Amino acid sequence: MLGRLNHVAIAVADAEKAAKIYRTAFGAEISATVPLPEHGVITVFATLPNTKIEFIQPLGADSPIAKFVERNPDGGIHHICYEVPDIIAARDNLIKEGARVLGDGQPKIGAHGKPVLFLHPKDFSGALVEIEQS
Ligand code: CO
Repeated sequence: MLGRLNHVAIAVADAEKAAKIYRTAFGAEISATVPLPEHGVITVFATLPNTKIEFIQPLGADSPIAKFVERNPDGGIHHICYEVPDIIAARDNLIKEGARVLGDGQPKIGAHGKPVLFLHPKDFSGALVEIEQS
């Protein structure tokens, strides 16, 4: 079952700088800056009442978002993340329905300490989708 919209991710060259105007102009609550070497990104979150905005910045030479930021030097929407109650059941059902799971298909621990998977944009109307166990 599809749960809440956990976050919308915006990829940028400098996550802290990108998040700043959400604090100064919108008064949003901004998280600490957290490096996630396993995902090749640095993250900062702006917390909204009904979801979060995740600012991601490339970390390391092999960052999966390096090319995206190269192509979009001003930043851009990179992915959307939905919560699912059981990530393994959700993955198996997605595969059964013909969706492609990126990487080796095994969930990794994401920015909130919960298992996540990414799904191929071609199967989701051009949007990169992340699912996170709720
Ligand atoms: Co994300």
